[in-house]
Amino acid sequence: MAQPKRIGILTSGGDCAGLNAAIRAVVHSAIDSYGWEVYGIRQATHGLMARPPAALHLTPEKVDPFLTKGGTMLGTTNKGDPFAFPMTDGTVCDRSQEIIEGYHLLGLDALIGIGGDGSLAILRRLAQQGGLNLVGIPKTIDNDVGVTECSIGFDTAVSVATEAVDRLQFTAASHSRVMILEVMGRDAGHIAMCAGIAGGADIILIPEIPYTLDGICETIKIRQQQGKNYCLLVVAEAVRTETGDRVLIKDAEGCRLGGVGQYLSQALCQRIEAETRVTVLGHIQRGGIPSHLDRLIATCFGVAAVELIAKEKYDHVVTWQQRSVVAVPIEEAIFKYSAVNPQGALATTARRMGIFLGSE
Ligand code: F6P
Repeated sequence: MAQPKRIGILTSGGDCAGLNAAIRAVVHSAIDSYGWEVYGIRQATHGLMARPPAALHLTPEKVDPFLTKGGTMLGTTNKGDPFAFPMTDGTVCDRSQEIIEGYHLLGLDALIGIGGDGSLAILRRLAQQGGLNLVGIPKTIDNDVGVTECSIGFDTAVSVATEAVDRLQFTAASHSRVMILEVMGRDAGHIAMCAGIAGGADIILIPEIPYTLDGICETIKIRQQQGKNYCLLVVAEAVRTETGDRVLIKDAEGCRLGGVGQYLSQALCQRIEAETRVTVLGHIQRGGIPSHLDRLIATCFGVAAVELIAKEKYDHVVTWQQRSVVAVPIEEAIFKYSAVNPQGALATTARRMGIFLGSE
């Protein structure tokens, strides 16, 4: 019989719903099937930089209560690339070796990293530099990791966004307004496209398809002529202005995506005879009770990640492809990006449903 292993697990990058289900699945399957020990590392790689390393011995009793909870019981961060870590004095420092040492101080035989493409790239670089045995699990509400049909967190985010469209419909109809819903997704329009179709939006704007303000105004006018007194517009946060400028919010931390809903509202109110209102859904899309699909995918991924470690098949990420879990080299997961296909099934469906997508 193989030696018992001691494995670590961490969540990295933005949180999302379903992470705890993956952690729970890893713990159950590692302990129940193999008798291994599992350590949950706090705050992504930051926990491995801490001395002593910040880690929690995980047992089924500790993880079970988190199955239905959003966020991550281990904490996470989407700041502080360890290869260029921002120090308090304003300098940046390469702290990668501290993380590698943290892994060895914990006596780990393998590490499961749950993250999006950015986190997986950093973890892989650390693994290569330090000889760490790494297995990846994809998570991101943006669903832009191209090797997998879905990543943990996407389904819940789409459910939340769809519910927002549903709710806006009543108030839009009551006041005869154009309601603009700005959703997350970074440079991919998956959340906007899925929630827009599911919620019966009239207009969906995504970064992958250019649009004109005239096209939007025309759609609103046609709706009005058809007797529909309101209009629902879903816009992805990375959609640019009509002239191609990025719309960004500036705050103390720098610039981030946001504000395109407001831009559209201002541009449209000068051109149409209807009031506009903007809802920015923001981090609500990342929180809440994980959907059944996110829990299911996360549980399958957690179990499959443990199997990869049992087979010592490292440097791979588990993916969902045609109702199966398939292991793919992490390198592929980092480089294969998934955007919405402007000619794909969803875009075609939207157009056939009379939804304005832009002027592609
Ligand atoms: O990548 C996930 C995501 O939620 C994006 O959709 C969004 O643009 C970004 O993270 C928000 O990041 P933060 O939590 O740092 O505001």
